[in-house]
Amino acid sequence: MHNIRKISDSLIYVGASDRRLALFENVYPVPNGISYNSYLLLDEKTVLLDTADASVAHRFFENVSAALDGRNLDYLVINHMEPDHCALIGDILLRYPGLTIVTNAKAVTMLKQFFSFDIDARTQVVAEGDTLSTGKHTLQFVMAPMVHWPEAMVTFDTTTGTLFSADAFGTFGAIAGNLFADEMDFHRDCLDEARRYYANIVGKYGTQVQMLLKKVAALDIKMICPLHGPVWRSNLGYFIEKYNLWSTYQPETQGVMIAYGSIYGNTENAADILAAKLAEKGVQGIAMYDVSKTDVSYLVSEAFKFTHIVLASSTYNNGIFTPMENFLLDLKAHALQNRKMAVIENGTWAPQSGKLIRATLDEMKNISVLGDTLTLKSSLKADQLASLETLVDIIANEIIKK
Ligand code: FEO
Repeated sequence: MHNIRKISDSLIYVGASDRRLALFENVYPVPNGISYNSYLLLDEKTVLLDTADASVAHRFFENVSAALDGRNLDYLVINHMEPDHCALIGDILLRYPGLTIVTNAKAVTMLKQFFSFDIDARTQVVAEGDTLSTGKHTLQFVMAPMVHWPEAMVTFDTTTGTLFSADAFGTFGAIAGNLFADEMDFHRDCLDEARRYYANIVGKYGTQVQMLLKKVAALDIKMICPLHGPVWRSNLGYFIEKYNLWSTYQPETQGVMIAYGSIYGNTENAADILAAKLAEKGVQGIAMYDVSKTDVSYLVSEAFKFTHIVLASSTYNNGIFTPMENFLLDLKAHALQNRKMAVIENGTWAPQSGKLIRATLDEMKNISVLGDTLTLKSSLKADQLASLETLVDIIANEIIKK
């Protein structure tokens, strides 16, 4: 049975959610599922904006058919060619053989890589600023390269002020009936998953996200329809501001993320004592993570949130304890910048992790390391408490004075 939602008289949500998926992109845990959003514009011509992932094909086709209510499908706009949105293009063409694909030249190249039908004969190629009139509505196409693939574009309905934003403004999590962000407590329940989605999916491409934000700032946007997560029809400035912070690598929260990699608990003990002393100094925003048990996508997301990050790591095979090394390399891969860091290392006979962590931090942009590396040999000793206190003072003074 179809499950569609009316967004307006002329726009129907025809996407679907997958709650069985363990790993989005076969790498990111999605304990709350994921939605694959697709939208049908009903005008003198009918326009489908993107398809969906193969996992929701059955529901998606039921939805499109129900929303069309006997009409034919005239256009398919392809904003993004990643298979979580393009997997069903071949099937939609079989069901609606008369439709015209509307997309850009880079997407056509990818279409030819993913599919084998006669693409040129069925495709109208559009470029920056081109428009498509569908009757009462005019769709304008805005290129969004690397948000999140090079062919990505967004489509703006100039008639209603609706921005079909592709991967931009997405959120992890299935749609639980409440399609609109204003039908839920987004800040309380969804912001963390929006940040985790942003940081891990498009976090590396902050410059390109900024370019897109500047382009769409000129548009009179009244609604944002992303390819994942809720639709935004009010309080758009709240979410746009988050994107502005994240894409310029500015933290959201004055506080400390303490990430520790501990084999037998001694590095964890030092991290715990550091956290307690920070709290005694009045620091309120403290988040602690064991990098061995926390999926790295959550760690990257938290690093995008906090001003200060403490990395406390054992030495392992004369290198950085591998879960910490994995986290650190992921931070570098996602281009995290503009953070204050502190380093604690541990090693029973040859502590090395601190030196290696700092070498990686040196390769990242605008990361300043506070104080000296605190070196533990097996465990924290009483004569090292003064050094730990010094680190606590430096971090606490920075946070509290702000
Ligand atoms: Fe949701 Fe980049 O695809």
